Amino acid sequence: MTTRYIVRPGHALKGRFPVPGDKSISHRSVILGALAEKVTEVEGLLEGEDVLATIAAFRAMGVHMDGPENGHLRIHGVGLHGLKAPQVPLDCGNSGTAMRLLSGVLAGQTFASTLVGDSSLQKRPMGRVLKPLLAMGADIQAQDGKAPLHIHGKPLQGMHYDMPVASAQVKSAVLLAGLYAQGETCVTEPAPTRDHSERMLKGFGYAVSRQENRACLEGGGQLTGQRIQVPGDISSAAFFLLGASITPGSDLLLEGVGINPTRTGIIEILTRMGARIDLTALREIGGEPVADIRVRYAPLQGIEVPPHLVPLAIDEFPALFIAAACAKTPSIISGAEELRVKESDRIAVMSAGLRALGVAVEERPDGAIITPSTFCGGQVDSHGDHRIAMAFAMAGQVASGDVEILDCANVATSFPGFPALARQAGLNLEVFAA
Ligand code: S3P
Repeated sequence: MTTRYIVRPGHALKGRFPVPGDKSISHRSVILGALAEKVTEVEGLLEGEDVLATIAAFRAMGVHMDGPENGHLRIHGVGLHGLKAPQVPLDCGNSGTAMRLLSGVLAGQTFASTLVGDSSLQKRPMGRVLKPLLAMGADIQAQDGKAPLHIHGKPLQGMHYDMPVASAQVKSAVLLAGLYAQGETCVTEPAPTRDHSERMLKGFGYAVSRQENRACLEGGGQLTGQRIQVPGDISSAAFFLLGASITPGSDLLLEGVGINPTRTGIIEILTRMGARIDLTALREIGGEPVADIRVRYAPLQGIEVPPHLVPLAIDEFPALFIAAACAKTPSIISGAEELRVKESDRIAVMSAGLRALGVAVEERPDGAIITPSTFCGGQVDSHGDHRIAMAFAMAGQVASGDVEILDCANVATSFPGFPALARQAGLNLEVFAA
């Protein structure tokens, strides 16, 4: 089915509402809940297609789960050694997180399995997880470092891995394999990346030590089922932070959003651009910091994005490209070459989309220079990338004509209720499915 959005220039965004559960934390709660002893109860789970793919994969390996329903999932954990050989290839859909984290879990099993994905996922680099896993003793076959991945479970050895790219998925895959490995497994990261895996492992009673930029654990322990409350996803909140910041008169309160410091680059960057963002009701839920976020319209200035903030805002660059295009002065994005291997090549696709709306963009190998101007109406191809579709939906709000966005079905991977929530906030958005 092809789905497209048409967004007509709209009014101020107003209201207060929660955003859906965090995608990264939802994946991890399913994985660790399945591998734990006893029952894990998850509340606030994201019921997006990516997380549903992870749930289906564990069901295919004999894990019984009730739900998900209204964000509640009850997982009957089978323990670290209780998974059964799947009879079918495990389909990770559009989800890099599912494929990379599962490859870490499956490398140390006593059975064979195959991981497949959709056309976008089958183009994404898996060599970055294969390299450390093979060094631990895994037996995984891929084609040119791409999926499908054929995994023959093997006994694994712990290792100290010095990660060349700042990737939470690689770190998590290696640590998950480390649960099955003999001895100690450590991962050193070149820059801080999201630490949900380490936090949640500790929540499940598994010792993880952290020294500066290195996380370590010993194989052979056990995980104990937990109650998990998943905070709202700051990466989904980001589209409303953008929409309200660029639309005069806007005032939104986004409730219960995760503000883990490894994820708040978007707040830091928008604030440096002049955005009016206030955090209130700060609290901790299930080992993760959470706040209500108020965002009001404010004129934005251009920015040279500090490279150290790139991994802390890695999923928010589609929104940041739009913010930069709406600013008063040009912006420079650099050190962001990872954007080229996300669900789409986000540098190329965002640049093409901005140009289609009349904005001058100089594309660079690791970023772009964006010279702001008013958006004209036009047609933008999201290339099936959920975050690009949602970012351009917000651009349509302040364009001088209608903005048509193609290939939007994958918004359901991370934010199934986006069109309805965006309309509730004041966006003039129509969905056409054919
Ligand atoms: C994720 C890590 C990031 C991010 C992705 C989710 C995770 O990927 O882009 O959306 O849940 O660990 P990388 O590890 O490739 O940076």
